[in-house]
Amino acid sequence: APDTRTPTGAETGAPKESKGQQGAYLTTSQGARLRDTDHSLKAGPRGPILMQDHHFREKITHFDHERIPERVVHARGAGAHGVFTGYGTATNLCRAGFLAKGKETDVFVRFSTVLGSRGSADTVRDTRGFATKFYTDEGTFDLVGNNIPVFFIQDAIKFPDIIHAAKWHPDKEIPQAQSAHDTFWDFVSLHTEAQHHTMWNMSDRGIPRSYRTMEGFGVHTFRLVNAAGETVLAKFHWKPKLGVHSLTWEEAQLLGGIDPDFHRRDLYDAIEAGAFPEWELGIQVFPDTDDETFAGIDLLDSTKIVPEELAEVQPIGKLVLNRTPRNFHAEVEQVAFHLGNLPPGIDVTNDPLLQGRLFSYLDTQLTRLAGPNFSQIPINRPHAPVNDMLRDGFHQHAVHAGVAPYRPNSLDGGNPFPAGDKENAFLDVPVRVAEAPKVRANPISYADHYSQVRLFWLSMSPVEKEHIVRAYTFELGKCYEQAIKERQLRCLANIDPLLCEQVATGLGLPVPEPTEEFADVTPSPALSQVGKKWPGD
Ligand code: HEM
Repeated sequence: APDTRTPTGAETGAPKESKGQQGAYLTTSQGARLRDTDHSLKAGPRGPILMQDHHFREKITHFDHERIPERVVHARGAGAHGVFTGYGTATNLCRAGFLAKGKETDVFVRFSTVLGSRGSADTVRDTRGFATKFYTDEGTFDLVGNNIPVFFIQDAIKFPDIIHAAKWHPDKEIPQAQSAHDTFWDFVSLHTEAQHHTMWNMSDRGIPRSYRTMEGFGVHTFRLVNAAGETVLAKFHWKPKLGVHSLTWEEAQLLGGIDPDFHRRDLYDAIEAGAFPEWELGIQVFPDTDDETFAGIDLLDSTKIVPEELAEVQPIGKLVLNRTPRNFHAEVEQVAFHLGNLPPGIDVTNDPLLQGRLFSYLDTQLTRLAGPNFSQIPINRPHAPVNDMLRDGFHQHAVHAGVAPYRPNSLDGGNPFPAGDKENAFLDVPVRVAEAPKVRANPISYADHYSQVRLFWLSMSPVEKEHIVRAYTFELGKCYEQAIKERQLRCLANIDPLLCEQVATGLGLPVPEPTEEFADVTPSPALSQVGKKWPGD
């Protein structure tokens, strides 16, 4: 029988969720009426403040604790609410219900820069985060992507290293946000798998015009499962309705001074004006083969793309952002994304970068959001019913009933695993885990660090190439150490002799010889997307 001893919030008449302000009168946090909030309680008008002034202490103490730690990366961001509508075009590949034709699902999106602090400028040269929380009926799905389709490193164990190298120097805490310093170039010229992502950063993609004109990428390859249990591998893409547009470097510099909130303001102003930003969600689909490659490209290597000429992006739904947050802290600061938040039908692969991320986000959020109950914060609450066995802990808001938080049990709650129910978010695919010796090593294919960055460079138009050369020259020009500039020039020599020569000339340094064979690649027109139209136009 249900336990009736412990009243829930609703039963006691308390509001189900805190509404912030209620009633016409100012009160303490306990609801006691206040008459004066401008004068502390003193021993006479000129006397010291009395310790007993509870209102003073409550007000100041709470203020003292208003800030929570900023994210260790992606600290600077802006967010918006919206709706995702499935097209039904993916239901033969993926059984996730939110992809069904015409199905509408609430979403919250947070865009961000990666390197700067919370107060840094929006228009710096950097990667942008593009994280989407789909509040699906079958549990929350977080697609935690970037506006660049590849990542700096292949294995998550190097994430602290790239971030230490790319964020500020520990002695001076500069620079705030740009890839313009010795440790960044030291890292990417020593860990040459980072050269691909770095060139995307040096291209116009590193200085987007607006969040509304950015593509988004899930980066990793995921495994999709349909109702029959059949699987495919897939990469997620967001395509902006307004096309892909960038700032010029000069615009980015000016805006950084004139309006450091440029992207944040642009997003909010557009939504408030009813010009709702739109993206199409698409997937590139690959057969789920044993070697997990497609056209010779290792699908588990997050420093590689699959060119769209080889695997078309198939539209599967539409996202419209139509509501700005009411409270930045409550929504944008407190939102917590996690790659492990997956509905039935979407599963992970063995990409070592993805695997490491599965650990890192929950771990960091335990500190950032002070304890294990942050999924109860309104912005993080699933819209699907929750019936978990997680109990107690800091900031527990639920008043759980019953004596038996284990399942099945014979006391309360009974058996939540009815016979015949096959729904399961995490054991969808009984994929074989390789029988292999334990090693700290990469697959051989991960050693190719130059073919795709060369492909990217050769795909650029002349003006885009000019921008890339100027970006490398400017950013490398900020390095104090000559040896680091020279090492990065040797990397550029392995990508393209003309690129290397132009940057070396700009820096006033000798042009080095390549040390690697040039990869034989065909330029990919789809990479140069500036002004690309909305699919279907
Ligand atoms: C935050 C994307 C790799 C650790 C974020 C955010 C995005 C993102 C978009 C901001 C989320 C938000 O707006 O709240 C990516 C992508 C990656 C990647 C696309 C590679 C494909 C990694 C790796 C690690 C990592 C390898 C660690 C092993 C973190 C952490 C945060 C974060 C700790 C802060 C989360 C928080 O405080 O809530 N990442 N990331 N990321 N990322 Fe990543």
